[in-house]
Amino acid sequence: MANDETVWIIGASDGIGEALAREWAARGARVILSARSEEKLKSLAVGLGPEHVAVLLDVADRESLDAAARRITELGPIDRVVHLAAAYDPGKIVEIDPVKAAQIVSINLTGSFHIAQVAPSLLREGGQLALCGSVAGYFGLPQGQIYSATKAGVINLAESLRSELKDKVDVRLISPGFVDTRLTRRNNFEMPGILTPEKAAVAIIDGLAGKRFEIHFPWRFTMGIKFLQLIPYWISLRLTRRLVQ
Ligand SMILES: NC(=O)c1ccc[n+]([C@@H]2O[C@H](COP(=O)([O-])OP(=O)(O)OC[C@H]3O[C@@H](n4cnc5c(N)ncnc54)[C@H](OP(=O)(O)O)[C@@H]3O)[C@@H](O)[C@H]2O)c1
Repeated sequence: MANDETVWIIGASDGIGEALAREWAARGARVILSARSEEKLKSLAVGLGPEHVAVLLDVADRESLDAAARRITELGPIDRVVHLAAAYDPGKIVEIDPVKAAQIVSINLTGSFHIAQVAPSLLREGGQLALCGSVAGYFGLPQGQIYSATKAGVINLAESLRSELKDKVDVRLISPGFVDTRLTRRNNFEMPGILTPEKAAVAIIDGLAGKRFEIHFPWRFTMGIKFLQLIPYWISLRLTRRLVQ
């Protein structure tokens, strides 16, 4: 799969998005790479080959996203949009900078909404739109706060879009467990089942080629957190209270 496909990756300058770009390009897709860091994006595009394109944007800034969409329209209809851009600032609730918290909402949640509005007109009929949630959005864990709350919102948004856009856009949800990127390097705890970005990229590409709405991995870890949603609060909250540091 992937030969002759065009895939727009938002959040492609680092981490999982960069690994996805490399893997998809290696499988024969043309990738359109988006993020805010011009140098990183351009050198990635050049390294991947002349058919790959860097389009700068900030998902929290609708004008920059609309300008990027106009540029992408010129490249022809695309097969998949994979939206990964996100920010993370772990800490205890009283220590979190409210300005940074508002930026996290703008990037993670409002940014996903902007992409959901812009992507359908760029996709070929039946093309795919994948939003990125997280296991952090399944259940509120201590010190997850604003990041986890935005990811719960992204999960909800993807569920809504799956029904609303049915028959027109193949909406998917990506829910990674822990992946070793600059984002998780800020965590000060041991991360169970942590994967390399390269392994995460293979799981995502293979999952998006399948039929399931949600692509979640590593399975053993994600199922454990999903279990918290199924049991009564008096048990789940007792369990999560033990994680307070
Ligand atoms: N790593 C994990 O363990 C993990 C677990 C669960 C879910 N996830 C999710 O997976 C996705 C990728 O995470 P990652 O770990 O690969 O993070 P990362 O290494 O920090 O990469 C994030 C990417 O998003 C881009 N980005 C951030 N803000 C942006 C903005 N305003 N506009 C456009 N691009 C922006 C960044 O590029 P610029 O800074 O150049 O803009 C970068 O390319 C995120 O949605 C994250 O929540 C990650």
